[in-house]
Amino acid sequence: MGKHIYLGSPTMHGEEFQYVKEAFDKNWIAPVGFNLDELEKQVNEYMTEGSDHPWYTCAVVSGTSALHLCAMLAGVKQGDTVLVSDATYCATAFPLAYEKANLVFVDSERESWNMDPAALELAFQKHPETKFVMVAHLYGTPANMDAIREVCDRHSAIIIEDAAEGMGSLYKGRKCGTLGDYNAISFNGNKIITTSMGGMVIAKDKATRDEALNLATQAREPVVWFEHAKLGNNYRMSNVLAGIGRGQMPHLYEHRALKRKLYDTYKEAFENLPVTMNPIPDWCESNYWLSAILIDKDCKVKPMDVLQAMLKIADAEGRPTWKPMSLQPVFKDCECVHVEDYPVGYDLYDRGLCLPSDIKNTDEDMELIIKAVKSCF
Ligand SMILES: Cc1ncc(COP(=O)(O)O)c(C=O)c1O
Repeated sequence: MGKHIYLGSPTMHGEEFQYVKEAFDKNWIAPVGFNLDELEKQVNEYMTEGSDHPWYTCAVVSGTSALHLCAMLAGVKQGDTVLVSDATYCATAFPLAYEKANLVFVDSERESWNMDPAALELAFQKHPETKFVMVAHLYGTPANMDAIREVCDRHSAIIIEDAAEGMGSLYKGRKCGTLGDYNAISFNGNKIITTSMGGMVIAKDKATRDEALNLATQAREPVVWFEHAKLGNNYRMSNVLAGIGRGQMPHLYEHRALKRKLYDTYKEAFENLPVTMNPIPDWCESNYWLSAILIDKDCKVKPMDVLQAMLKIADAEGRPTWKPMSLQPVFKDCECVHVEDYPVGYDLYDRGLCLPSDIKNTDEDMELIIKAVKSCF
C-alpha cells in the first residue's frame, strides 16, 4: 500500500519558509511586524480587485476568532436572536454562543447546500425581533447571497459572512469575504491557503478594521499606560505565522485550479454511480475546497460503507458531510427552521460524504480512491 491520503493537508512552496526565516533573522517574533503588514496588504488587494470600494483586513489567530470579532463588531449581545446556517462547521455558531446569543438555525437549500432563503424568510416570520444573520459557504461554494440579502434587507438585519471555507470563491463575480456586512476567512491548516492556523476579518471601512484590531489586542486605550474601557481579546496573529500566509497568497489561484481538477476527476469517474457531487450553482465560481458526494436516496450504500472502503483499499480519509448544528448535543435546545418536512441539511448528512481533496493527490492516488468508492456500488 502507498502513502496515507489525507482529506486535505497544507501545500507549501518554499517562499513561506523564507518569510518565516526573515522573521527569525530580524527577531520579529511577535504579533506585530512586516509579515503581518504584507499579508494584510495582499488580502486587501485581493478583496479590493474588482470591488467598487477598498477593503480592509485584520489578521488574527483563527477563523473562529475572526468570526467572534465580527459578532462583537456587529453588536451581537446576550439574548439577541441570530439566524445561523444549520449545515456548517461548529465554528460558525460557537462565537455567537460565546456572546450568549439566542441561536436559531436555518436549513439548507438543495441547489447550493447552503442557507435556504425561503427557510430564512420563515425564520424571520417566527422571530421578527431578529437583527443578525450568520451565513456560511459550505465546502467553498457560495450561498445565494443576493436572495439572502434581499430577505435580510426587508427585515433590517445585518449579515455576518462566514467565508472560512470560501477564500478564492466568487458569487456573481464578487469575492467571498466581501458579501456580508462583517466578514471572516480562515487560514487553518486544512484551508485552501493557510498560515497553519489563522484567520482574518475583512472590513468594509478603515474604522471597522481599526476597531477589529483594538478588540483583537485587548482593547487598549490609546495612552502609554494600560487602560481598558471595554473587554478585548488576545487574538492578533503572530508575525511568524503571517510569513507562511505571505508565501501562500500568490498560490491561491493555482490551488483553486488544482482543487477543481480533483472535483472534475471525481465527477467524471462517478458518472454512472448512484451518486451526485456537491452542487456548484451557476451563480458562482467555487474554490472547490472540498469535493463531496451524495448517495442516491434509493441506494442501500451508506456513507460509512464508502468511508471504510476508502480507508481499507486506498488508505484514504473521508468524512461524513458536516453534521448539522441543530443535531449537535451542545445545541440540543436550539430550533432549526426548515421548509421541507425533513430538513435538507439532515438529509445531506444522512447521505453525504466528503472525499479526499488534497491538491497533492497524484493520478495514482485518485485512481485508488475512485476504485475504492466504486467497489461499494
Ligand atoms: C465554516 C467554518 N467556519 C469557521 C471555521 C473556523 O476556522 P478556524 O479553524 O480557522 O478557527 C471553519 C474551519 O475550521 C469552517 O469550516
